[in-house]
Amino acid sequence: MSIIVNEHEKLFTLHTENTTYQFKADQHGILLHLYYGQKITNQNLEYLILPVDRGFSGNPYDAGDDRTYSLDTLPLEYPTEGVGDFRCPALSVLNSNGSKVADLRFCGYQKYAGKYMIEEQPALYDETGKTAETLMLHLKDALTGLEVTLLYGVFAERDIITRSVIVRNGGIDDTKILRIQSASIDFQYGEWEIIHFHGRHNMERIFERTPVPHGTTAYGSRRGTSSHQHNPFLILCGKNTSEFHGECFGMNLVYCGGFIARIERDQTDLVRLSMGLNDDGLSWKLSPGQTFHTPEVVLSFSSEGFSKLSHNYHAIYRNNLCRGKFKFNRKPIVINNWEATYFDFNSDKLIEIAKNAAELGIEMLVMDDGWFGERDNDKCSLGDWVVNTKKLPGGITPLVEAVNAFGVKFGIWVEPEMISENSDLYRAHPEWVLRVPGRKPVHSRSQLVLDLSREDVCDYIYSSMVSILDSANIEYVKWDMNRSISDCYTTTLPYDRQGEVMHRYVLGLYKLLERLTQRYTDVLFEGCSGGGGRFDPAMLYYHPLIWCSDNTDAIERLKIQYGTSFAYPVSVVSSHVSAVPNHQTGRVTSLYTRGVVAMSGNFGYELDTSVLSIAEKIKIRKQIQVFKEVQHIVHNGNYYRLSNPFEQRYVAWLMVLPDQSAALLSIVITQAEANAPHIHIKLAGLNRNVSYLIEKKQYSGEALMNAGYAIQCPTQDYYSTQLYISSDSESIL
Ligand code: DGJ
Repeated sequence: MSIIVNEHEKLFTLHTENTTYQFKADQHGILLHLYYGQKITNQNLEYLILPVDRGFSGNPYDAGDDRTYSLDTLPLEYPTEGVGDFRCPALSVLNSNGSKVADLRFCGYQKYAGKYMIEEQPALYDETGKTAETLMLHLKDALTGLEVTLLYGVFAERDIITRSVIVRNGGIDDTKILRIQSASIDFQYGEWEIIHFHGRHNMERIFERTPVPHGTTAYGSRRGTSSHQHNPFLILCGKNTSEFHGECFGMNLVYCGGFIARIERDQTDLVRLSMGLNDDGLSWKLSPGQTFHTPEVVLSFSSEGFSKLSHNYHAIYRNNLCRGKFKFNRKPIVINNWEATYFDFNSDKLIEIAKNAAELGIEMLVMDDGWFGERDNDKCSLGDWVVNTKKLPGGITPLVEAVNAFGVKFGIWVEPEMISENSDLYRAHPEWVLRVPGRKPVHSRSQLVLDLSREDVCDYIYSSMVSILDSANIEYVKWDMNRSISDCYTTTLPYDRQGEVMHRYVLGLYKLLERLTQRYTDVLFEGCSGGGGRFDPAMLYYHPLIWCSDNTDAIERLKIQYGTSFAYPVSVVSSHVSAVPNHQTGRVTSLYTRGVVAMSGNFGYELDTSVLSIAEKIKIRKQIQVFKEVQHIVHNGNYYRLSNPFEQRYVAWLMVLPDQSAALLSIVITQAEANAPHIHIKLAGLNRNVSYLIEKKQYSGEALMNAGYAIQCPTQDYYSTQLYISSDSESIL
């Protein structure tokens, strides 16, 4: 039993294997947050709240003369606007009389086995109904009739708690939601630092750790996508928390649209952390009887540092978020022609790439952008999902057949959410675009965004995709999205409901993806948004694979993959070896090093296989053999970060099979130094009582983890090594 309710004390305790989360409804029906952290088996933690009369902090009317009772200083479970809490609210509504007060009081609860789901939105699931429990907490504003239900999903064995919120207008007048966060947590005590993952196109999810200052700090995206610039994942941690020690909390939003996360340190050093869909411009009309369901956040806590926190997220996403045939199945080794040809290709060229790829052991050719309409550059044809027969004579079918004849599967790139002004679709349906009437829309990559809040637009996209996917043996779809959303206006809603469009776009996208992925259950969908601009749990629900970044430079990828690994498992990251000099940085690295880095994900290539030298072909063939041997470790292993690429001159990481029988250690030197000290690394996750073989020598697990492993460091730029660690006496590499 992971949800314990003490009805007498109105105390709610959620237990996971190693954590406890607690809150209570107090004498006024206000929900007080009491605790989230390391497991405490049986204790009402209300004693941590000490009554103090704080100057200038308001007191609710029903607290009478008790000036110590203030919603401005108490730790709250779901803070709202207008009730005397001057910190950031999680909920703000506009009532029909123009006021913004939402005075929510406890009015009941339900709990049940299994995990709640959110209608037409992605969420963690519990297939068996036996691994999670749900708590629903009901609150109500007696004057307006606004009803709020807080949902908690508890995955006890995985140390994961999810939260989401349902708002129902139980009154008789319209109301509007102006802000609605999926969760808010008040940490009454502790000295905290915050880690977030910022970036830009070609440099996503860069780790940044800073102390939490007084006041409010916000991270988020107003771009209509979760974005390259900030990932919807935050870690709150102690000052001394490291990979293997210390306390840390994670919060990750299951949402692919714009989001906002706020961290507020108040006058008493209480830290409030909240996250939800972006509320800049949000204004969602709720007529009597209507409901609104927020996306969910995924929470986790570790008292054993970041490694354990990451493992909690990796396991829940692999088991309870990703779906379908490719959730655990081995994914193919891909050759993608983007960096090989850009728009300049035809069937003959692709067949040549596929033929050479087959000889190397590559299993899938993905035909990237440029195969449809008049698309010889990125200025036209999005929306016209009709094969360009000048490039592919006879259409896709003969091309796919020719590729399949080499034993290579075939995949295709699409960007269905977009439209080019120079397209037949735009000429026929200019009203299908997101734009403000009478204004010229903002261009980005010379394209506009289709209005996915419209059902007819989604139906058009669906049928275009169906006709492509049904036309040939297409076994892989790379679903791209190459711009931020602006001009967020739809002609289908009145002026006072335009604040709904951003979220309605996302809901339209989810519905479309659900229809397509349910129809094509044998097709592997790869998500992409100019690389990793939409690398989030919502996309993982539909696409069990996401292109990590358009930056394929092995050395820069080390930082990108490092940041990505805090929340997302290696098994969902796609990662390719590209040509040198690298197209994004001009850097030259060895094929070996490019392979070592790309093997920390779904391995593949992004180069022209038909122009490789014999020596390169021999190396690539060997590289692919190696990957096939270690792929089970990469996909199923527990991932350990063994260095910090921002602080050290090397990057080391380790993947260990869950049964600890084998592991793969990868080390890349990012900065060669003269007369450098040896590199010394303490391994993790091994069985201390087992003897492991590394390069024909035996070492005890205990020694490798306590005394560590040392390698000599050649004075060579971007030197790397990949070591297979096995409990067998035979090495496979
Ligand atoms: C952006 C993607 O990230 C690239 O891999 C490539 O597919 C291009 N779009 C094609 O336009």
